[in-house]
Amino acid sequence: TGAITLDPGFKNTGSCESAITFLDGEKGILRYRGYSIEELAEKADFLEVVYLLIFEELPNKQQLDNFKNDIIGQSEVNEDMQKVINGFPSSAHPMGILSSLTSALIAFNPKSVNVDSEEDMYKAIVKILAKFPTLAAWTLRKRNNQALNNRDTNLGYVESLLKMMFEKPGEEYKLDQTVVDALDKLLILHADHEQNCSTSAVRLVGSSQAGLFASISAGVSALWGPLHGGANQAVIEMLEEIQNDGGDTSKFIAKAKDKDDPFRLMGFGHRVYKNFDPRAKIIKKSADEVLDALGVEDPILDIAKSLEKAALEDPYFVERKLYPNVDFYSGIIYRAMGIPTEMFTVMFAVGRLPGWIAQWKEMRLGKEPIGRPRQVYIGENLRSFKQLENR
Ligand code: CMC
Repeated sequence: TGAITLDPGFKNTGSCESAITFLDGEKGILRYRGYSIEELAEKADFLEVVYLLIFEELPNKQQLDNFKNDIIGQSEVNEDMQKVINGFPSSAHPMGILSSLTSALIAFNPKSVNVDSEEDMYKAIVKILAKFPTLAAWTLRKRNNQALNNRDTNLGYVESLLKMMFEKPGEEYKLDQTVVDALDKLLILHADHEQNCSTSAVRLVGSSQAGLFASISAGVSALWGPLHGGANQAVIEMLEEIQNDGGDTSKFIAKAKDKDDPFRLMGFGHRVYKNFDPRAKIIKKSADEVLDALGVEDPILDIAKSLEKAALEDPYFVERKLYPNVDFYSGIIYRAMGIPTEMFTVMFAVGRLPGWIAQWKEMRLGKEPIGRPRQVYIGENLRSFKQLENR
């Protein structure tokens, strides 16, 4: 073997070729299959973007209808899955439950593991797309000690997700179009982001041919961390902390700059974007619009804006090219929709699901070899074993 190149965190290592998402971090450009994120967020709906990412082109009317119907046909979740979720305490974090349920789904759909033909692959993809929103909604219902439900097949993908999350027995659930549109947009913005931590996890697990659902479950776990998808929860917790502390942002900016303090400004900085995250630009505008339309006045939005302003003027953040990322304002919108903070990363997972699937499919169809990085060994040289009594 030749010399091994060391690249912790894979900062400069490409792991694959991909035709799905184009990202230019210097210029702040993001495109799915050649379409700009700005145009998709404005004009497409989430399911069209799901189709685009997975099947490479925007669907025509017939293709979209077939796809919708196939998803609806698979939307029921096996009743025994309810026993699995009922075994968890309601204090469990929704992301832990979601990754466990995604894994448990394999037991009830064993045929989804072997995907040797494109037909089998399509079936597995439709199944996970159909059942995952129900599992996501269940994590909220579990937390609220509410009875578990199934999808309303008369409603669209995003609408039915909201209904599953929020419907209460004996009450007719009324959809609010502002909420539907805002969630649709957020899901589109989160749908793919090339080889990020969770997507790389999905591709790596999938490269051992472990099956789609196992790979997605790994993606959910990877997304959970506060440096990745968990940042949306961490941002709101940070903003609440600033609020409870009297609202002065300068102390927190100082903490974030202090190298002896582990605190980081959550929702700031990005491995690839060294300019404004284009998704954050769209979300910031949308936060204002959604809060206005819903008549929500959230003092946390003002704190977020003044924190952003202070950071963007501070040499520490300027020199390191640290800008707000996708998670900085998304939580404020979720909050205005009545979604509890602990559920934010679950919403991110629902949005990222099509990206994970598209990347997994690309990896499998491209017959990529098993992912297996090397290392540079820095441990002990050969030593001889000492019996227990001599240690
Ligand atoms: N607050 C304070 N300092 C920061 C921050 C921050 N949020 N982000 C980076 N830095 C500093 C870091 O300390 C380092 O400084 P120095 O050069 O003096 O050592 C420099 O900026 C470069 O940072 P890095 O940690 O080497 O960069 P990375 O590419 O390894 O990490 C990141 C990227 C996103 C993990 C990081 O910026 C971070 O922890 N941000 C906060 C968490 C967050 O918002 N994550 C969401 C990311 S976007 C959506 C998603 O992935 O889900």
